Amino acid sequence: WFDRATFYPPDPIFALTAGFIADPDPNKVNLGQGTYRDDEGKPWILSSVHQAREKLISQKLYHEYLPILGLAEFRSRAAEVALGTRIYREHKETLATCQSLSGTGSLHLTGLLLRAVLNPLPKVFIPEPTWSNHHQIFRALGFECQSFPYYDYANKTLDFDSYISTLESAEPHSIFILHACAHNPTGCDPSKSQWEQIGQIFKDRQLFPLFDAAYLGFNSGDVDEDAFAIRYFVDDLELETAVCMSFAKNMGLYGERVGCTVLVAKNSLTARNTESMLEMLQRSEVSNPPGFGAKIASTVLGDEQLKGAWYEDMVTMSGRIRSMRTQLHDLLVSQATPGSWNHLVNQTGMFGFLGLSPKVVEQLRDQYYIYMSANSRISLAGLNSHNVEYVARSIKTCLED
Ligand code: LMR
Repeated sequence: WFDRATFYPPDPIFALTAGFIADPDPNKVNLGQGTYRDDEGKPWILSSVHQAREKLISQKLYHEYLPILGLAEFRSRAAEVALGTRIYREHKETLATCQSLSGTGSLHLTGLLLRAVLNPLPKVFIPEPTWSNHHQIFRALGFECQSFPYYDYANKTLDFDSYISTLESAEPHSIFILHACAHNPTGCDPSKSQWEQIGQIFKDRQLFPLFDAAYLGFNSGDVDEDAFAIRYFVDDLELETAVCMSFAKNMGLYGERVGCTVLVAKNSLTARNTESMLEMLQRSEVSNPPGFGAKIASTVLGDEQLKGAWYEDMVTMSGRIRSMRTQLHDLLVSQATPGSWNHLVNQTGMFGFLGLSPKVVEQLRDQYYIYMSANSRISLAGLNSHNVEYVARSIKTCLED
């Protein structure tokens, strides 16, 4: 039965984590997978999440099935996070929402839905570079995926001209994967005015925006700021839009798989039909989503005090990441590391996109036990006051070799 199975290499991001864990060197540094760490290099349970968890456990926490679409309060509170209170209230009737298995599950579910309702199947345009799972998810669903240039490797900036020309030449009804903020891996986001320009082309050319929203609030510490593009597309441009939300990073609920699919439809009838399809698709995929993480997230979002604590937690996380970004930059510059490093401080979000060659990335791993993605993306949260000098020094030594 399985003779025709071919061997797939392990996922590069998870393989990196496994390699790091297996490495016995005491100086090892993990700058691979995007998971938040505190200054001691330890996972961090957000204070808001901790309080919500205690509250839930002090009440009677049953382990019953959730409804197929997930926890109703969570779905509406998550949609309110993405859209903001006013837009959420105004669009409530035209939303189709479904709790999902974090961002990946949400992208997959949205892909399933689009595949079921669109004929012929449009192309899915995916920025190059992008998060490594995007191609895999949409290819596995049978979509033709087309990369488009997003990053100017020579100047280490957003390649806005190529972006615009791709939008202008794509067939109407094409689907575009958009990173709502904190583009993974480059950390280069369009400015607000560039988003406005991008959005207008979506409207004029009838393209479909599918936002991967994994870093709302985690990017800048301010959800409203990070959700600018989503809200502009939905509210100002009145576009039908998909938002695939993950609470892995911004609530530190990585393993709980807490996500939400928020689809903004044309009218309430379409929204109701769409939601019924999400329910049918979810039933055949996972039957019903996991409860614990969604209950935690819903408790945080449904309580003003806990929500305030969550905002502060996001300021703590994004602030520490920003400070590591600056420290690494300053150290690279002050020790006269070959090359220019401005791009590092011009980037935003969880990652630094260093621009090192694969050979240097390998050397850093093999000689200095510093782990990062092959494209030299580093998770800045892996840096701390104990290892940032070691990392900067090691990069300098490798570049001088
Ligand atoms: C990452 O990009 O490192 C994270 O989003 C983790 C993952 O699932 O790939």
